[in-house]
Amino acid sequence: MDKPVTIVILAAGLGTRMKSRKAKVLHQAGGKTLVEHVVATALQVAPPERIFVVVGHQAEEVRRAVSTPGIGFIEQKEQKGTGHALMVGRSVLSGLDGYLMIVYGDGPLLRAATLEHMLQAAASSDGAGVLLSAEMSDPTGYGRVIRGDGGRVAAIVEQKAGTPEQLEVREANMGIYCYRADLFWKYIDSIRPDNAANEFYLTDMVEILNRAGHFVEAVKIDDPTEVLGINNRLELAEADRLLRTRKLRELMVDGVTIEKPETVTVDMDVRIGMDTVVSPFAQILGRTTIGEACRIGAGAIVSDSELGDEVDVGPFTLIHSSRLDRGAQVGPFARLRMDSHVEPGAHIGNFVELKKTRMGAGAKANHLAYLGDSHIGARTNIGAGAITCNYDGSRKHPTRIGEGAFVGSNTTLVAPLEIGDGAYLGAGSVITEDVPANALAIGRARQTVKPEWASKKRALRKQSG
Ligand code: UD1
Ligand code: MG
Repeated sequence: MDKPVTIVILAAGLGTRMKSRKAKVLHQAGGKTLVEHVVATALQVAPPERIFVVVGHQAEEVRRAVSTPGIGFIEQKEQKGTGHALMVGRSVLSGLDGYLMIVYGDGPLLRAATLEHMLQAAASSDGAGVLLSAEMSDPTGYGRVIRGDGGRVAAIVEQKAGTPEQLEVREANMGIYCYRADLFWKYIDSIRPDNAANEFYLTDMVEILNRAGHFVEAVKIDDPTEVLGINNRLELAEADRLLRTRKLRELMVDGVTIEKPETVTVDMDVRIGMDTVVSPFAQILGRTTIGEACRIGAGAIVSDSELGDEVDVGPFTLIHSSRLDRGAQVGPFARLRMDSHVEPGAHIGNFVELKKTRMGAGAKANHLAYLGDSHIGARTNIGAGAITCNYDGSRKHPTRIGEGAFVGSNTTLVAPLEIGDGAYLGAGSVITEDVPANALAIGRARQTVKPEWASKKRALRKQSG
């Protein structure tokens, strides 16, 4: 393709049918906002400097959602229709030659290959451009493609304006167009708001170009689910399902085992290595990366985290914003959060919580512990019920435990604390002072045993009774 392409994404509308305070394109499907999906697709076809997003409703939030540097924004303060959205961008856009591709921001399933295909179709046509259409079993709500001479498009008729006969047509307008930029800008001002909604309909361009002696062709897409436009929450749920199914298929084709895939939730930007097994009801979210040959247990939730190879995540474990190195084992029923780091081969068992804690290689905390703001040295063992008291009511304090140390069960570690390498802490101790390397610290009342105390007490009771 010699001629450059500019892609304009319309994302200014509120989306009344969503019944939401949030702009439609900011709703999420597949773990990302609708507009992010469309932008990601556009970036596969054009450089950021040739991509523009029309914003209006909650413009600031939409700009923030589109974080790629270089992408331009066009402000449509009042939303007077899809045609108007282009009119307001005229001064910025009309100087860009080649092709003008227009995509609606509420179609998150669109694939880059479809846009490429449309570009090719536009380039090999003598007409003013092409639009994307699909035969739908139920096209209710979509504009209908009315065919004229030689199969060319005579007009697009909106649902609200269609005659009963026109509404019988099952070929629907998908809201994706590729026009010759020069012709588009030459005629755009001919769009008039002469419809029931009093809006400037972009779809009127077809008739306008026909009248000017040009023509527009329709490229039919085989799979209309790809261009599902989201207008309400039902369609949002459907898009979410389709996006996630697409993602799971990609992963499975790439060698990831997903058990009962219909129960598993994986966000679009997640990466998972070969031979990893994902169990039913697992959720893998955000920007998570998982290595090869890992196991993600049933019902585990992993978000924005990095897992090396051969990591074992037991069932019902929550991992957020953390890093697990090769061979780490966590869970079942563990919780890791806020930049925790589990080094190679370390074990975190059931009902153990880590917060901002680094667990050294081969270290273990197998049951019932809370380790916050801590650094646990390699091969150190943390007994059941050990707790770091990292918060004094106003500030957080760190705990450092050296390598090869042994923290007895039910130890209370009152931070700030330094425990040296190889030190032992007696079970049930309240540790308030630093412990040097290889020392034993016990901080609890000494046990007293009173022989025959119980039998004497019982004898006394019998006498008085
Ligand atoms: C539109 C098409 C319809 C097509 C359908 C495909 C028109 C008139 N109709 O209808 O033929 O079948 O999409 O999904 O174009 N927007 C703006 N500014 C505005 C109005 C809308 O930026 O002033 C944006 C919206 O944020 C949205 C997109 O344009 O992302 C489409 O608007 P929407 O109201 O959903 O159009 P539909 O009624 O679905
Ligand atoms: Mg729509």
